[in-house]
Amino acid sequence: MCGIIGYIGNKQAQPILLNCLGRLEYRGYDSCGVAVSNSSIEVYKDVVRVGALRKASPRIKGTIGIGHTRWATYGEPSQVNAHPHCDCHGSIAVVHNGIINNFQRLKHQLISEGHNFVSETDTEVIPHLIEKYYRGNLEEAVEAALRDVDGSYALIVLRVGEPRLVAARKDSPLIIGIGDRENFIASDVPAMLDYTDRVMYLEDGDIGVVTPNSIKVRSDGMEVTREEHKISWSVADAQKAGYEHFMLKEIHEQPKVIRDTLGEYVQATEPVVDLAVMRDEGIESMLILACGSSYYAAVVGKYIVEELLGIPVRAELASEFNYFSRPLARTGAIVITQSGETADTLKAIKRLKEVGCPVLAITNVVGSTASRIADQTIYTRAGPEISVAATKSFTAQLMVLYWLALSYSQVDIKRLTDIRRLADMIMGLRQLPSKVQQVLDNEGKIMECADYLSAYEDMFFIGRGINFPVALEGALKLKEISYIHAEGYAAGELKHGPFALLGSDTPVIAIVDPDSTYEAMLTNIREVQTRRSPLIALAEDGDEAIGELADFVITVPRVDAIFSPVVNLVTLQLLAYHTAKKKGCPIDFPRNLAKSVTVE
Ligand code: F6R
Repeated sequence: MCGIIGYIGNKQAQPILLNCLGRLEYRGYDSCGVAVSNSSIEVYKDVVRVGALRKASPRIKGTIGIGHTRWATYGEPSQVNAHPHCDCHGSIAVVHNGIINNFQRLKHQLISEGHNFVSETDTEVIPHLIEKYYRGNLEEAVEAALRDVDGSYALIVLRVGEPRLVAARKDSPLIIGIGDRENFIASDVPAMLDYTDRVMYLEDGDIGVVTPNSIKVRSDGMEVTREEHKISWSVADAQKAGYEHFMLKEIHEQPKVIRDTLGEYVQATEPVVDLAVMRDEGIESMLILACGSSYYAAVVGKYIVEELLGIPVRAELASEFNYFSRPLARTGAIVITQSGETADTLKAIKRLKEVGCPVLAITNVVGSTASRIADQTIYTRAGPEISVAATKSFTAQLMVLYWLALSYSQVDIKRLTDIRRLADMIMGLRQLPSKVQQVLDNEGKIMECADYLSAYEDMFFIGRGINFPVALEGALKLKEISYIHAEGYAAGELKHGPFALLGSDTPVIAIVDPDSTYEAMLTNIREVQTRRSPLIALAEDGDEAIGELADFVITVPRVDAIFSPVVNLVTLQLLAYHTAKKKGCPIDFPRNLAKSVTVE
């Protein structure tokens, strides 16, 4: 999704803006641009990477400016559609994230009033509306313009000769970074981390006026105070630290992420969330909502909670739930979102709250919209996840789900289906970082398998029970970064259709659970082998039966079946990574994808 940055201070804006845009590259983009104000506004933008823009753009003098990385929605990726966009006279420049739903009507109206448009974007109506309403006060003109707008936005406005930036947000994140005689405005924290770790999150409806020495925020015409937060991530956390890609670094961080996330909650001295509310309100079922990888974490969560607590759990895609499902009475709702900004997930939270359903959000981003609109929030301690493909955030989400199920079993002890499981679970959780490290130590073998798989164009991932969502997530990881067509399937379902596609050019990756589903999976593997599909198995070391049937065995360490998604998924993340690397794909920034999906 698009990224935005604004700078105002006592230094030259252009190099700072370009550096900040570089930090936003991870969000995915097709074009980028900057505008700097001095005696006039100079704009440089193109369909290029930030590095190329840095080389191509001449040095522009000025200490106030805005920048943007664009991910095309209205209007193809092109120089003219890239941001910043200006009014007729080039005296107002705007960068914008979000969507203006009524832009066609506004555009026709503005054209009939004499405004000239050059792009196909929805954003371009904003500088023209501000121009229309400008009567000597930029903030008032922005307010008036936004009254005409129906849609979502995080935007920054620059006007020539004005020693201030004006920022506004609605349904799209916007953060002010506080510096020493300089201030920043950005769509997310990593953009500004080189310069400041002090931030202020704007709320929906806020309009901020930022100068080098002051920040004023208004909402509904009244001045409001927004709390200052200190970011605990360091610049190093948001850099590659010697790894070739962010994704590889993030995969390797997982033992630490598990320790950090569990350490935060298992050893907490004060209650992290009030789970007694659920018991007191007689919660009889749970609903877990999310999108993409976070949805697959939700499905693993369904298995965890149903097994440990015996409570029926529905895991649903937020994008479907919003249109086709109803929240039920006596249901506790959990939403999972790494970014805390996914439009469908936020819509689901609002919908649940409208019907009085208490919502617990699990997110990685402190101050994100999800954390502010949910009733309670649990933060995953994954640190910044820069690579578009989710890896460590998924594992951290699972840790929170394990911890939640365990904690709730203690709050409402009658829920615990098997009391001995509690001690086993705690022991198992403690061992997980070293088990994941064993997977990482097996990277050489996984690379060999990736070399082998990179020659194929279609494949299936199969799993059963709690490893069914792992098959779905393994297939998603492979397809999004290697562009190989991959489908995740419940192993027992292959025979209900996909068998027609099996053959020597369609490998099957089978996740073998050594416990309850072992025999059934062995049968499924034999079925696959009969159809001559190359078979790769994730299995326990020394499993002779699997060794005989599979073309390739990747061993995974033995853990309690309930934790097997963690070791299996880390294995599949490495498999996807090395397959994509072998194919020379741009792993951290896959085509057409964005880190945070802020449109429905
Ligand atoms: C895949 C991936 C996406 C996200 C999805 C939801 O690797 O990262 O599928 O999981 O866009 O994002 P969040 O968790 O931020 O709501």
